Amino acid sequence: MSEPLKKNLYLEKAVQALYSDSIPPMRDENEVLITGDRLRRSRLYVPGNQPKKILKAGTYSPDCIILDLEDSVPQKEKDNARIIVRNALRMVDFNGAEKMVRINSNDTGMIDLEFIIAQNVHVIVIPKVESSDQIIRFVKKINELLKVCGRREPVFIIPIIESAHGVLNALEIAKSSPNIIGLTIGLEDYTADLGINKTITGEESFFARSMVLHAAKATGIQALDSVHGDFRDEKSLRRSVRESKALGFVGVGCIHPNQIIPIHEEFSPLEIEISQAKEIIKGFDLAITNGTGVFELGGKMIDAPIVKRAKQIIKLAIACGSLSKD
Ligand code: COA
Ligand code: MG
Repeated sequence: MSEPLKKNLYLEKAVQALYSDSIPPMRDENEVLITGDRLRRSRLYVPGNQPKKILKAGTYSPDCIILDLEDSVPQKEKDNARIIVRNALRMVDFNGAEKMVRINSNDTGMIDLEFIIAQNVHVIVIPKVESSDQIIRFVKKINELLKVCGRREPVFIIPIIESAHGVLNALEIAKSSPNIIGLTIGLEDYTADLGINKTITGEESFFARSMVLHAAKATGIQALDSVHGDFRDEKSLRRSVRESKALGFVGVGCIHPNQIIPIHEEFSPLEIEISQAKEIIKGFDLAITNGTGVFELGGKMIDAPIVKRAKQIIKLAIACGSLSKD
């Protein structure tokens, strides 16, 4: 049999297994329950009712994969998607990406949780969050399901804020559970809520994004920006990622594999930033030895906050693989 034919047969079998009513065995790699403090530069959305895309998602090496049960899945496909996502969490090789599931809001989301909590999911992404009460309700349900399946490790949570109401409650939402590891914003729904157009430059959402960003920074969790929907335009994607990074976001959502490499490149510190950071840290250590907390480097004053930023750059460079630990 020819190689392409073999490959097709394998794919068809894997797709069939994802539709199966019986629960497949858990892959060894998918036994890992917790992913902790890690890079979340790219979160690739994959519609939960599209098995072929789910099977390939890990091969593009995003930091996180969001199996979506919400708006990319039509109503009549919701039941199929729950089965596919449940099985995928057990049997698909996601190549080390963090496994996230975006559930539906309200009571539909409660049903989604019943299918996925026992499947070693890492993060539940909760959409259309407007108040802390909503998070508290979902956390209660998650904890009940965790008890039933005997899992002790927490399931992390990322709320998506998508309305004026949610934006104004961003801080209370960020504080509503210790399992929240990041806060993000959904700009399509947010601009629809305001009855305005979403533009490529994004001025209309500056206030909302700043609110979400400050709520995240104030609570010590990751500020994660929305998706860039114009997925065939790499130049505008890079521009928007640079802007997100400049504001303080540490990751963005993405919808197409083409977007992953540019996003990772834009979030990695530049060579020049790394070498400057090294010089700053070295100079500061020397200054401290000489009994001063401030010194001059290339005509600029260097003091503690600048050293703090330099250390953040080195940490990020190591995490991105642009610098070795030693
Ligand atoms: N996840 C995994 N694989 C994806 C993907 C995704 N989000 N988007 C595209 N691909 C794959 C395609 O299946 C195709 O694979 P193949 O070469 O093996 O056939 C390859 O990447 C190239 O895709 P392309 O033909 O350029 O795009 P498309 O027309 O198949 O899909 C979209 C375009 C926008 C429909 C698709 O990217 C998508 O569904 N994105 C996610 C949308 C979503 O979840 N939205 C909700 C959150 S905002
Ligand atoms: Mg939305």
